[in-house]
Amino acid sequence: QRRDDKPAPTEDEFLKKFEVEDGESWMTSDVGGPMGDQRSLRAGQRGPTLLEDFIFRQKLQHFDHERIPERVVHARGAGAHGTFTSYGDFSNLTSASFLSEEGKKTPVFVRFSTVAGSRGSADTARDVHGFATRFYTDEGNFDIVGNNIPVFFIQDAIQFPDLVHSVKPSPDNEMPQAATAHDSAWDFFSSQPSTMHTLFWAMAGFGIPRSYRHMDGFGVHTFRFVTDDGKTKLIKWHWKTLQGKASLVWEEAQVLGGKNADAHRQDLFDAIASGNAPSWELNVQVVDEDRALAFGFDLLDPTKFIPEELAPLQPLGKMTLDINPTNYFAETEQVAFQPGHIVRGVDFTEDPLLQGRLYSYLDTQLNRHGSPNFEQLPINMPRVAIHNNNRDGFGQMFIHKNPIHYNPNTLNNGFPAQANQTTGRGFFTAPGRKASWYLVRELSATFDDHWSQPRLFFNSLTPVEQQFLINAIRFEASHIKSEQVKRNVLVQLNRISNDVAKRVAEALGMEAPAPEDTYYHNNVTQGVSIFNNTLPTIAA
Ligand code: HEM
Repeated sequence: QRRDDKPAPTEDEFLKKFEVEDGESWMTSDVGGPMGDQRSLRAGQRGPTLLEDFIFRQKLQHFDHERIPERVVHARGAGAHGTFTSYGDFSNLTSASFLSEEGKKTPVFVRFSTVAGSRGSADTARDVHGFATRFYTDEGNFDIVGNNIPVFFIQDAIQFPDLVHSVKPSPDNEMPQAATAHDSAWDFFSSQPSTMHTLFWAMAGFGIPRSYRHMDGFGVHTFRFVTDDGKTKLIKWHWKTLQGKASLVWEEAQVLGGKNADAHRQDLFDAIASGNAPSWELNVQVVDEDRALAFGFDLLDPTKFIPEELAPLQPLGKMTLDINPTNYFAETEQVAFQPGHIVRGVDFTEDPLLQGRLYSYLDTQLNRHGSPNFEQLPINMPRVAIHNNNRDGFGQMFIHKNPIHYNPNTLNNGFPAQANQTTGRGFFTAPGRKASWYLVRELSATFDDHWSQPRLFFNSLTPVEQQFLINAIRFEASHIKSEQVKRNVLVQLNRISNDVAKRVAEALGMEAPAPEDTYYHNNVTQGVSIFNNTLPTIAA
Protein backbone atom coordinates (compact mmCIF):
# COMPACT_ATOMS: atom_id res chain seq x y z
CA GLN A 1 0.00 0.00 0.00
CA ARG A 2 2.74 2.52 0.88
CA ARG A 3 4.06 3.79 -2.36
CA ASP A 4 7.45 4.92 -1.09
CA ASP A 5 8.46 1.38 -0.09
CA LYS A 6 8.34 0.12 -3.66
CA PRO A 7 11.25 0.54 -6.07
CA ALA A 8 10.27 2.33 -9.28
CA PRO A 9 9.75 -0.20 -12.08
CA THR A 10 11.90 0.15 -15.15
CA GLU A 11 10.46 2.25 -17.90
CA ASP A 12 10.15 -0.83 -20.06
CA GLU A 13 8.16 -2.78 -17.44
CA PHE A 14 5.82 0.12 -16.83
CA LEU A 15 5.04 1.10 -20.41
CA LYS A 16 4.76 -2.51 -21.63
CA LYS A 17 1.47 -2.78 -19.73
CA PHE A 18 -0.02 -0.20 -22.06
CA GLU A 19 1.35 -1.47 -25.34
CA VAL A 20 -1.10 -2.84 -27.87
CA GLU A 21 -0.04 -5.47 -30.39
CA ASP A 22 -2.30 -5.36 -33.48
CA GLY A 23 -0.05 -7.47 -35.66
CA GLU A 24 -1.71 -10.85 -35.32
CA SER A 25 -5.31 -10.17 -34.38
CA TRP A 26 -8.50 -9.66 -36.32
CA MET A 27 -10.12 -6.28 -36.40
CA THR A 28 -12.65 -5.17 -33.83
CA SER A 29 -14.77 -2.08 -33.44
CA ASP A 30 -13.84 0.37 -30.65
CA VAL A 31 -16.17 -1.54 -28.37
CA GLY A 32 -14.78 -4.94 -29.22
CA GLY A 33 -17.11 -6.53 -31.76
CA PRO A 34 -15.39 -8.39 -34.64
CA MET A 35 -15.32 -6.16 -37.71
CA GLY A 36 -16.28 -8.21 -40.72
CA ASP A 37 -16.19 -5.67 -43.49
CA GLN A 38 -14.33 -2.44 -44.26
CA ARG A 39 -16.84 -1.12 -46.77
CA SER A 40 -19.56 1.36 -45.81
CA LEU A 41 -23.22 0.37 -45.72
CA ARG A 42 -25.17 1.89 -48.62
CA ALA A 43 -28.75 1.85 -49.83
CA GLY A 44 -28.01 -0.14 -52.93
CA GLN A 45 -24.64 -0.43 -54.66
CA ARG A 46 -25.04 3.03 -56.24
CA GLY A 47 -27.00 4.53 -53.31
CA PRO A 48 -26.13 6.91 -50.44
CA THR A 49 -24.30 5.81 -47.26
CA LEU A 50 -26.53 5.10 -44.29
CA LEU A 51 -26.34 6.84 -40.92
CA GLU A 52 -27.01 3.42 -39.45
CA ASP A 53 -23.46 2.28 -40.30
CA PHE A 54 -21.93 2.67 -36.83
CA ILE A 55 -18.64 1.16 -37.97
CA PHE A 56 -18.28 3.83 -40.66
CA ARG A 57 -19.25 6.61 -38.22
CA GLN A 58 -16.91 5.37 -35.50
CA LYS A 59 -13.94 5.16 -37.85
CA LEU A 60 -14.40 8.59 -39.44
CA GLN A 61 -15.28 10.23 -36.16
CA HIS A 62 -12.14 8.90 -34.51
CA PHE A 63 -10.02 10.03 -37.43
CA ASP A 64 -11.62 13.49 -37.40
CA HIS A 65 -10.43 13.89 -33.80
CA GLU A 66 -6.91 12.48 -34.14
CA ARG A 67 -5.12 15.81 -33.76
CA ILE A 68 -4.62 17.73 -30.54
CA PRO A 69 -3.34 21.33 -30.46
CA GLU A 70 0.41 21.47 -30.94
CA ARG A 71 2.43 23.06 -28.15
CA VAL A 72 2.15 26.84 -28.33
CA VAL A 73 5.97 26.90 -28.18
CA HIS A 74 8.45 24.01 -28.52
CA ALA A 75 6.00 22.29 -30.91
CA ARG A 76 8.74 20.44 -32.79
CA GLY A 77 10.67 17.83 -30.85
CA ALA A 78 12.02 14.33 -30.37
CA GLY A 79 11.97 12.15 -27.26
CA ALA A 80 13.75 9.18 -25.76
CA HIS A 81 13.62 7.01 -22.64
CA GLY A 82 16.56 6.17 -20.45
CA THR A 83 17.96 5.89 -16.96
CA PHE A 84 19.54 8.30 -14.52
CA THR A 85 22.13 6.88 -12.11
CA SER A 86 23.11 8.83 -9.01
CA TYR A 87 26.84 9.13 -8.32
CA GLY A 88 26.31 9.13 -4.58
CA ASP A 89 24.32 10.04 -1.49
CA PHE A 90 23.66 13.78 -1.69
CA SER A 91 21.42 14.02 1.36
CA ASN A 92 23.80 16.69 2.71
CA LEU A 93 22.43 18.90 -0.11
CA THR A 94 18.91 17.66 -0.81
CA SER A 95 16.38 15.15 0.42
CA ALA A 96 15.43 14.34 -3.21
CA SER A 97 15.18 10.57 -3.13
CA PHE A 98 16.65 10.00 -6.61
CA LEU A 99 19.93 11.47 -5.31
CA SER A 100 19.99 9.50 -2.06
CA GLU A 101 22.48 6.69 -2.76
CA GLU A 102 25.31 5.73 -5.05
CA GLY A 103 24.14 3.73 -8.04
CA LYS A 104 20.43 4.47 -7.49
CA LYS A 105 18.64 4.25 -10.85
CA THR A 106 15.63 6.33 -11.88
CA PRO A 107 13.81 6.00 -15.21
CA VAL A 108 13.72 9.18 -17.31
CA PHE A 109 12.06 10.51 -20.45
CA VAL A 110 13.66 13.43 -22.31
CA ARG A 111 12.16 15.64 -25.00
CA PHE A 112 14.45 17.88 -27.06
CA SER A 113 12.87 20.62 -29.14
CA THR A 114 13.15 23.86 -31.03
CA VAL A 115 11.08 26.77 -29.74
CA ALA A 116 9.53 28.91 -32.45
CA GLY A 117 8.78 26.50 -35.31
CA SER A 118 5.53 24.61 -35.77
CA ARG A 119 5.32 20.83 -35.43
CA GLY A 120 6.25 20.42 -39.08
CA SER A 121 9.17 22.89 -39.17
CA ALA A 122 12.81 22.01 -39.83
CA ASP A 123 15.11 20.79 -37.05
CA THR A 124 17.99 22.94 -38.20
CA ALA A 125 16.40 26.40 -37.83
CA ARG A 126 18.47 28.81 -35.74
CA ASP A 127 16.73 28.80 -32.38
CA VAL A 128 17.04 28.19 -28.67
CA HIS A 129 16.59 24.43 -28.09
CA GLY A 130 14.52 22.78 -25.37
CA PHE A 131 15.97 20.07 -23.13
CA ALA A 132 13.19 18.78 -20.88
CA THR A 133 13.82 15.82 -18.56
CA ARG A 134 11.26 13.86 -16.57
CA PHE A 135 12.56 11.72 -13.69
CA TYR A 136 10.03 9.07 -12.64
CA THR A 137 11.32 9.00 -9.05
CA ASP A 138 10.08 6.77 -6.25
CA GLU A 139 8.60 9.91 -4.70
CA GLY A 140 6.80 11.14 -7.79
CA ASN A 141 7.66 12.89 -11.03
CA PHE A 142 10.37 15.53 -11.15
CA ASP A 143 10.87 17.62 -14.30
CA ILE A 144 13.81 19.85 -15.26
CA VAL A 145 12.24 21.82 -18.12
CA GLY A 146 15.37 23.46 -19.46
CA ASN A 147 17.04 24.79 -22.59
CA ASN A 148 20.45 24.39 -24.24
CA ILE A 149 21.28 28.01 -23.37
CA PRO A 150 21.78 28.94 -19.68
CA VAL A 151 19.89 32.24 -19.80
CA PHE A 152 16.56 33.53 -21.11
CA PHE A 153 15.35 36.53 -23.10
CA ILE A 154 13.09 38.17 -20.54
CA GLN A 155 12.91 38.61 -16.79
CA ASP A 156 9.18 38.88 -16.18
CA ALA A 157 6.74 36.16 -17.32
CA ILE A 158 4.15 38.75 -18.36
CA GLN A 159 6.37 39.49 -21.38
CA PHE A 160 6.42 35.90 -22.67
CA PRO A 161 3.45 36.31 -25.06
CA ASP A 162 5.14 39.43 -26.52
CA LEU A 163 8.43 37.61 -27.02
CA VAL A 164 6.71 34.66 -28.70
CA HIS A 165 4.45 36.84 -30.87
CA SER A 166 7.53 38.66 -32.12
CA VAL A 167 9.41 35.50 -33.15
CA LYS A 168 6.55 33.32 -34.47
CA PRO A 169 5.60 33.38 -38.17
CA SER A 170 4.07 36.47 -39.65
CA PRO A 171 0.34 36.70 -38.79
CA ASP A 172 -0.77 37.51 -42.36
CA ASN A 173 0.94 34.73 -44.34
CA GLU A 174 2.33 32.49 -41.57
CA MET A 175 5.79 32.59 -43.10
CA PRO A 176 8.52 32.39 -40.46
CA GLN A 177 11.08 34.23 -42.51
CA ALA A 178 8.67 36.78 -43.99
CA ALA A 179 9.92 40.34 -43.82
CA THR A 180 7.40 41.23 -41.12
CA ALA A 181 8.29 38.24 -38.93
CA HIS A 182 12.00 38.92 -39.25
CA ASP A 183 11.61 42.60 -38.46
CA SER A 184 9.27 41.93 -35.55
CA ALA A 185 11.74 39.61 -33.82
CA TRP A 186 14.61 42.07 -34.13
CA ASP A 187 12.30 44.95 -33.23
CA PHE A 188 11.43 43.18 -29.96
CA PHE A 189 15.05 42.19 -29.22
CA SER A 190 16.35 45.70 -29.78
CA SER A 191 13.52 47.32 -27.80
CA GLN A 192 13.92 44.94 -24.86
CA PRO A 193 17.61 44.87 -23.90
CA SER A 194 17.17 41.96 -21.47
CA THR A 195 17.06 39.76 -24.62
CA MET A 196 20.64 40.61 -25.63
CA HIS A 197 22.38 37.96 -23.58
CA THR A 198 20.29 35.02 -24.82
CA LEU A 199 20.38 36.45 -28.33
CA PHE A 200 24.20 36.34 -28.26
CA TRP A 201 24.16 32.66 -27.25
CA ALA A 202 21.60 31.88 -29.98
CA MET A 203 23.71 33.71 -32.59
CA ALA A 204 26.75 31.70 -31.49
CA GLY A 205 26.89 27.94 -32.14
CA PHE A 206 24.24 27.18 -29.52
CA GLY A 207 21.48 28.29 -31.94
CA ILE A 208 22.41 25.62 -34.49
CA PRO A 209 23.65 22.58 -32.57
CA ARG A 210 25.11 19.71 -34.57
CA SER A 211 22.49 17.39 -33.07
CA TYR A 212 20.47 16.99 -29.89
CA ARG A 213 23.17 14.61 -28.69
CA HIS A 214 25.74 17.41 -28.86
CA MET A 215 23.88 19.92 -26.67
CA ASP A 216 24.29 20.78 -22.99
CA GLY A 217 21.17 21.57 -20.98
CA PHE A 218 20.42 24.17 -18.31
CA GLY A 219 17.59 24.67 -15.80
CA VAL A 220 18.17 28.44 -16.32
CA HIS A 221 16.41 29.65 -13.16
CA THR A 222 17.90 29.44 -9.71
CA PHE A 223 16.10 26.73 -7.72
CA ARG A 224 16.55 25.57 -4.15
CA PHE A 225 17.76 22.37 -2.58
CA VAL A 226 16.24 21.50 0.80
CA THR A 227 17.57 18.84 3.18
CA ASP A 228 15.58 16.72 5.63
CA ASP A 229 16.73 18.95 8.47
CA GLY A 230 15.54 22.08 6.66
CA LYS A 231 18.84 23.46 5.34
CA THR A 232 18.51 25.20 2.01
CA LYS A 233 20.89 26.23 -0.80
CA LEU A 234 20.40 28.07 -4.07
CA ILE A 235 21.21 25.91 -7.07
CA LYS A 236 21.39 25.91 -10.86
CA TRP A 237 20.99 22.73 -12.94
CA HIS A 238 23.42 21.84 -15.73
CA TRP A 239 23.40 18.85 -18.09
CA LYS A 240 26.81 18.27 -19.72
CA THR A 241 26.79 16.25 -22.91
CA LEU A 242 29.27 13.37 -22.85
CA GLN A 243 29.29 13.29 -26.66
CA GLY A 244 31.11 16.62 -26.69
CA LYS A 245 29.44 19.92 -27.54
CA ALA A 246 29.34 20.73 -31.25
CA SER A 247 27.42 22.97 -33.60
CA LEU A 248 26.82 23.23 -37.30
CA VAL A 249 28.04 26.20 -39.29
CA TRP A 250 25.30 28.24 -40.96
CA GLU A 251 25.86 26.98 -44.50
CA GLU A 252 25.83 23.39 -43.20
CA ALA A 253 22.59 24.03 -41.30
CA GLN A 254 20.92 25.35 -44.44
CA VAL A 255 22.06 22.49 -46.66
CA LEU A 256 21.22 19.86 -44.02
CA GLY A 257 17.80 21.40 -43.38
CA GLY A 258 17.08 21.42 -47.10
CA LYS A 259 18.08 17.82 -47.55
CA ASN A 260 16.54 16.42 -44.39
CA ALA A 261 14.27 18.56 -42.22
CA ASP A 262 14.27 15.69 -39.67
CA ALA A 263 18.07 15.63 -39.30
CA HIS A 264 18.10 15.98 -35.50
CA ARG A 265 15.21 13.62 -34.87
CA GLN A 266 16.82 11.06 -37.09
CA ASP A 267 20.25 11.44 -35.50
CA LEU A 268 18.82 10.73 -32.03
CA PHE A 269 16.61 7.87 -33.15
CA ASP A 270 19.32 6.20 -35.24
CA ALA A 271 21.98 6.58 -32.53
CA ILE A 272 19.76 4.81 -30.00
CA ALA A 273 18.56 2.17 -32.46
CA SER A 274 22.16 1.34 -33.40
CA GLY A 275 23.26 0.92 -29.77
CA ASN A 276 25.11 4.25 -29.47
CA ALA A 277 23.11 5.48 -26.50
CA PRO A 278 23.95 9.13 -25.73
CA SER A 279 24.71 10.24 -22.16
CA TRP A 280 24.74 13.44 -20.14
CA GLU A 281 26.13 14.26 -16.72
CA LEU A 282 23.88 16.14 -14.29
CA ASN A 283 25.68 18.89 -12.36
CA VAL A 284 24.65 21.62 -9.96
CA GLN A 285 26.11 24.93 -8.95
CA VAL A 286 25.47 25.43 -5.26
CA VAL A 287 25.35 28.88 -3.63
CA ASP A 288 24.58 29.88 -0.04
CA GLU A 289 21.22 31.60 0.43
CA ASP A 290 22.85 34.83 1.62
CA ARG A 291 24.95 35.12 -1.55
CA ALA A 292 22.07 35.77 -3.96
CA LEU A 293 23.46 39.27 -4.63
CA ALA A 294 27.13 38.56 -3.99
CA PHE A 295 28.28 38.28 -7.60
CA GLY A 296 27.28 41.69 -8.96
CA PHE A 297 23.97 40.48 -10.36
CA ASP A 298 20.82 38.95 -8.93
CA LEU A 299 20.46 35.18 -8.80
CA LEU A 300 16.71 35.66 -9.27
CA ASP A 301 17.38 37.21 -12.68
CA PRO A 302 17.06 34.50 -15.39
CA THR A 303 19.07 36.55 -17.90
CA LYS A 304 22.25 35.87 -15.90
CA PHE A 305 24.41 32.81 -15.43
CA ILE A 306 26.87 32.15 -12.62
CA PRO A 307 30.36 31.84 -14.12
CA GLU A 308 31.80 28.46 -13.16
CA GLU A 309 34.85 30.10 -11.54
CA LEU A 310 32.48 31.53 -8.92
CA ALA A 311 30.43 28.37 -8.31
CA PRO A 312 32.01 25.22 -9.70
CA LEU A 313 29.89 22.46 -11.17
CA GLN A 314 29.26 19.60 -8.81
CA PRO A 315 28.52 16.29 -10.61
CA LEU A 316 25.50 14.39 -9.29
CA GLY A 317 24.89 11.58 -11.76
CA LYS A 318 24.70 10.35 -15.28
CA MET A 319 21.78 9.91 -17.66
CA THR A 320 21.81 7.55 -20.63
CA LEU A 321 19.06 7.54 -23.27
CA ASP A 322 18.83 4.04 -24.71
CA ILE A 323 15.18 3.39 -25.63
CA ASN A 324 13.35 5.00 -28.52
CA PRO A 325 9.66 5.79 -28.13
CA THR A 326 7.34 3.11 -29.49
CA ASN A 327 4.66 5.60 -30.48
CA TYR A 328 5.47 9.26 -31.12
CA PHE A 329 2.01 10.57 -30.27
CA ALA A 330 1.47 8.53 -27.09
CA GLU A 331 4.87 9.39 -25.69
CA THR A 332 6.65 12.39 -27.23
CA GLU A 333 3.51 14.37 -28.06
CA GLN A 334 1.46 13.60 -24.97
CA VAL A 335 4.23 14.12 -22.43
CA ALA A 336 3.40 17.17 -20.33
CA PHE A 337 6.48 18.61 -18.62
CA GLN A 338 6.04 21.30 -15.99
CA PRO A 339 8.58 23.34 -14.01
CA GLY A 340 6.03 22.86 -11.22
CA HIS A 341 6.64 19.09 -11.13
CA ILE A 342 9.10 19.10 -8.25
CA VAL A 343 9.84 16.51 -5.59
CA ARG A 344 10.66 16.69 -1.90
CA GLY A 345 14.13 18.21 -1.61
CA VAL A 346 13.69 20.75 -4.42
CA ASP A 347 11.98 24.13 -4.12
CA PHE A 348 11.38 27.19 -6.28
CA THR A 349 12.78 30.69 -5.98
CA GLU A 350 11.06 34.03 -6.47
CA ASP A 351 12.50 34.41 -10.00
CA PRO A 352 9.59 36.26 -11.68
CA LEU A 353 9.96 34.26 -14.90
CA LEU A 354 9.84 30.94 -13.06
CA GLN A 355 6.84 32.09 -11.04
CA GLY A 356 4.91 32.74 -14.28
CA ARG A 357 5.93 29.40 -15.77
CA LEU A 358 4.43 27.66 -12.75
CA TYR A 359 1.04 28.87 -14.00
CA SER A 360 1.50 28.66 -17.76
CA TYR A 361 2.40 24.98 -18.30
CA LEU A 362 -0.52 23.53 -16.38
CA ASP A 363 -2.85 25.99 -18.07
CA THR A 364 -1.65 25.24 -21.61
CA GLN A 365 -1.70 21.48 -21.00
CA LEU A 366 -5.36 21.66 -20.03
CA ASN A 367 -5.89 23.19 -23.46
CA ARG A 368 -3.66 20.68 -25.23
CA HIS A 369 -5.20 17.62 -23.59
CA GLY A 370 -8.72 18.91 -23.03
CA SER A 371 -8.99 17.25 -19.63
CA PRO A 372 -7.60 17.68 -16.13
CA ASN A 373 -6.77 13.94 -16.18
CA PHE A 374 -3.77 14.21 -18.53
CA GLU A 375 -1.45 13.18 -15.69
CA GLN A 376 -3.10 9.73 -15.96
CA LEU A 377 -1.74 9.15 -19.48
CA PRO A 378 0.94 6.40 -19.45
CA ILE A 379 3.80 8.79 -20.29
CA ASN A 380 2.75 11.22 -17.57
CA MET A 381 1.61 8.83 -14.89
CA PRO A 382 4.00 8.73 -11.93
CA ARG A 383 5.48 5.28 -11.42
CA VAL A 384 4.10 5.28 -7.87
CA ALA A 385 0.46 4.95 -6.79
CA ILE A 386 -1.57 8.16 -6.44
CA HIS A 387 -3.82 8.70 -3.43
CA ASN A 388 -5.72 11.95 -3.03
CA ASN A 389 -9.22 13.35 -3.27
CA ASN A 390 -9.10 14.64 -6.86
CA ARG A 391 -12.01 13.04 -8.69
CA ASP A 392 -13.92 12.74 -11.96
CA GLY A 393 -13.41 14.95 -15.03
CA PHE A 394 -13.20 14.06 -18.75
CA GLY A 395 -11.34 10.83 -19.44
CA GLN A 396 -11.09 9.65 -15.81
CA MET A 397 -9.07 6.40 -15.99
CA PHE A 398 -9.46 5.16 -12.42
CA ILE A 399 -12.28 3.65 -10.41
CA HIS A 400 -11.91 5.21 -6.99
CA LYS A 401 -13.36 2.89 -4.38
CA ASN A 402 -13.28 5.06 -1.29
CA PRO A 403 -16.64 6.85 -0.79
CA ILE A 404 -14.97 9.20 1.74
CA HIS A 405 -13.22 11.48 -0.73
CA TYR A 406 -12.59 14.49 1.45
CA ASN A 407 -10.29 15.55 4.27
CA PRO A 408 -10.34 15.95 7.19
CA ASN A 409 -12.56 12.94 7.86
CA THR A 410 -13.25 10.55 10.69
CA LEU A 411 -15.40 8.11 8.68
CA ASN A 412 -12.26 6.68 7.05
CA ASN A 413 -9.92 7.27 9.99
CA GLY A 414 -8.52 10.35 8.26
CA PHE A 415 -7.25 8.48 5.16
CA PRO A 416 -5.82 9.23 2.71
CA ALA A 417 -3.74 11.01 5.33
CA GLN A 418 -1.28 13.84 4.93
CA ALA A 419 2.14 12.33 4.30
CA ASN A 420 3.89 14.45 6.91
CA GLN A 421 1.52 13.06 9.57
CA THR A 422 2.20 9.44 8.66
CA THR A 423 5.71 9.24 7.23
CA GLY A 424 7.16 12.52 8.47
CA ARG A 425 7.80 13.32 4.82
CA GLY A 426 6.09 16.18 3.13
CA PHE A 427 7.24 18.50 0.48
CA PHE A 428 8.19 21.26 -0.34
CA THR A 429 8.45 24.85 0.73
CA ALA A 430 11.89 25.59 2.08
CA PRO A 431 11.82 26.77 5.69
CA GLY A 432 12.92 30.36 5.95
CA ARG A 433 11.31 31.55 2.72
CA LYS A 434 9.36 34.68 3.39
CA ALA A 435 7.43 37.16 1.28
CA SER A 436 6.08 40.38 2.69
CA TRP A 437 6.54 43.76 1.07
CA TYR A 438 4.66 46.57 -0.64
CA LEU A 439 2.94 45.51 -3.86
CA VAL A 440 4.91 46.73 -6.87
CA ARG A 441 5.10 46.05 -10.59
CA GLU A 442 8.65 47.25 -11.30
CA LEU A 443 11.48 44.73 -11.11
CA SER A 444 14.31 45.15 -8.63
CA ALA A 445 17.12 47.48 -9.72
CA THR A 446 19.40 44.46 -9.31
CA PHE A 447 17.93 43.21 -12.63
CA ASP A 448 19.00 46.34 -14.54
CA ASP A 449 22.36 45.45 -16.10
CA HIS A 450 21.60 43.83 -19.46
CA TRP A 451 24.99 44.37 -21.06
CA SER A 452 27.79 43.05 -18.85
CA GLN A 453 27.02 39.36 -19.24
CA PRO A 454 26.64 39.31 -23.04
CA ARG A 455 29.98 41.15 -23.08
CA LEU A 456 31.44 38.55 -20.72
CA PHE A 457 30.07 35.78 -22.96
CA PHE A 458 31.45 37.41 -26.11
CA ASN A 459 34.86 37.87 -24.52
CA SER A 460 34.92 34.23 -23.45
CA LEU A 461 34.72 33.07 -27.09
CA THR A 462 37.72 32.32 -29.28
CA PRO A 463 38.26 34.74 -32.20
CA VAL A 464 36.78 32.16 -34.59
CA GLU A 465 33.68 31.77 -32.42
CA GLN A 466 33.40 35.56 -32.14
CA GLN A 467 33.45 35.84 -35.91
CA PHE A 468 30.78 33.09 -36.12
CA LEU A 469 28.55 35.15 -33.81
CA ILE A 470 29.21 38.41 -35.69
CA ASN A 471 28.49 36.69 -39.01
CA ALA A 472 25.20 35.37 -37.65
CA ILE A 473 24.10 38.83 -36.50
CA ARG A 474 25.25 40.34 -39.79
CA PHE A 475 23.29 37.75 -41.76
CA GLU A 476 20.11 38.10 -39.70
CA ALA A 477 20.29 41.88 -39.33
CA SER A 478 20.85 42.35 -43.05
CA HIS A 479 17.37 40.83 -43.60
CA ILE A 480 15.74 43.54 -41.48
CA LYS A 481 13.73 45.90 -43.69
CA SER A 482 13.14 48.73 -41.23
CA GLU A 483 15.98 51.29 -40.95
CA GLN A 484 14.69 52.15 -37.47
CA VAL A 485 15.00 48.55 -36.27
CA LYS A 486 18.51 48.27 -37.71
CA ARG A 487 19.50 51.44 -35.84
CA ASN A 488 17.95 50.07 -32.61
CA VAL A 489 19.95 46.86 -33.01
CA LEU A 490 23.19 48.85 -33.36
CA VAL A 491 22.33 50.90 -30.27
CA GLN A 492 21.96 47.75 -28.15
CA LEU A 493 25.03 46.03 -29.63
CA ASN A 494 27.03 49.17 -28.93
CA ARG A 495 26.07 48.98 -25.27
CA ILE A 496 27.64 45.52 -25.19
CA SER A 497 30.68 46.37 -27.28
CA ASN A 498 31.53 49.15 -29.67
CA ASP A 499 33.67 46.66 -31.56
CA VAL A 500 30.68 44.35 -32.18
CA ALA A 501 28.48 47.29 -33.19
CA LYS A 502 31.12 48.48 -35.69
CA ARG A 503 31.58 45.06 -37.24
CA VAL A 504 27.80 44.62 -37.70
CA ALA A 505 27.29 48.22 -38.89
CA GLU A 506 29.88 47.68 -41.60
CA ALA A 507 27.82 44.80 -43.06
CA LEU A 508 24.66 46.92 -42.93
CA GLY A 509 26.36 49.88 -44.62
CA MET A 510 25.62 52.02 -41.57
CA GLU A 511 27.56 54.00 -38.96
CA ALA A 512 27.98 52.45 -35.51
CA PRO A 513 27.03 54.73 -32.62
CA ALA A 514 29.88 56.30 -30.62
CA PRO A 515 31.09 54.30 -27.58
CA GLU A 516 28.94 54.93 -24.50
CA ASP A 517 31.00 54.75 -21.34
CA THR A 518 28.10 54.23 -18.96
CA TYR A 519 27.44 50.77 -20.34
CA TYR A 520 31.03 49.63 -20.16
CA HIS A 521 31.54 49.45 -16.41
CA ASN A 522 34.83 51.32 -16.51
CA ASN A 523 35.42 50.00 -20.01
CA VAL A 524 36.56 46.69 -18.61
CA THR A 525 35.56 44.31 -21.35
CA GLN A 526 37.89 41.42 -20.70
CA GLY A 527 35.67 39.11 -18.78
CA VAL A 528 35.57 40.37 -15.22
CA SER A 529 33.60 43.57 -15.52
CA ILE A 530 30.49 42.21 -13.84
CA PHE A 531 32.33 41.65 -10.61
CA ASN A 532 32.79 45.37 -10.05
CA ASN A 533 29.84 45.46 -7.75
CA THR A 534 28.40 48.72 -8.97
CA LEU A 535 24.79 47.60 -8.67
CA PRO A 536 22.48 49.08 -6.07
CA THR A 537 21.66 46.81 -3.16
CA ILE A 538 18.10 45.78 -2.37
CA ALA A 539 16.49 47.60 0.53
CA ALA A 540 16.28 45.21 3.47
C1 HEM B 1 7.25 24.51 -23.41
C2 HEM B 1 5.57 28.62 -21.59
C3 HEM B 1 10.02 30.02 -20.43
C4 HEM B 1 11.60 25.65 -21.64
C5 HEM B 1 6.43 25.53 -23.06
C6 HEM B 1 5.02 25.53 -23.27
C7 HEM B 1 4.54 26.70 -22.75
C8 HEM B 1 5.66 27.43 -22.22
C9 HEM B 1 3.10 27.17 -22.72
C10 HEM B 1 4.21 24.43 -23.93
C11 HEM B 1 4.04 23.35 -22.91
C12 HEM B 1 3.13 22.24 -23.36
O1 HEM B 1 2.24 22.45 -24.20
O2 HEM B 1 3.30 21.12 -22.82
C13 HEM B 1 6.63 29.33 -21.09
C14 HEM B 1 6.54 30.60 -20.41
C15 HEM B 1 7.79 31.00 -20.11
C16 HEM B 1 8.68 29.98 -20.58
C17 HEM B 1 5.24 31.32 -20.09
C18 HEM B 1 8.28 32.24 -19.43
C19 HEM B 1 7.47 33.02 -18.75
C20 HEM B 1 10.82 28.95 -20.61
C21 HEM B 1 12.17 28.85 -20.16
C22 HEM B 1 12.60 27.62 -20.50
C23 HEM B 1 11.53 26.94 -21.17
C24 HEM B 1 12.93 29.93 -19.38
C25 HEM B 1 13.92 27.00 -20.22
C26 HEM B 1 14.45 27.07 -19.03
C27 HEM B 1 10.56 24.99 -22.24
C28 HEM B 1 10.67 23.68 -22.82
C29 HEM B 1 9.42 23.35 -23.33
C30 HEM B 1 8.57 24.47 -23.05
C31 HEM B 1 11.91 22.81 -22.86
C32 HEM B 1 9.06 22.10 -24.10
C33 HEM B 1 8.68 21.00 -23.16
C34 HEM B 1 8.40 19.75 -23.95
O3 HEM B 1 9.35 19.25 -24.60
O4 HEM B 1 7.26 19.27 -23.92
N1 HEM B 1 6.80 26.70 -22.43
N2 HEM B 1 7.94 28.98 -21.17
N3 HEM B 1 10.46 27.75 -21.21
N4 HEM B 1 9.28 25.44 -22.39
FE1 HEM B 1 8.62 27.18 -21.77
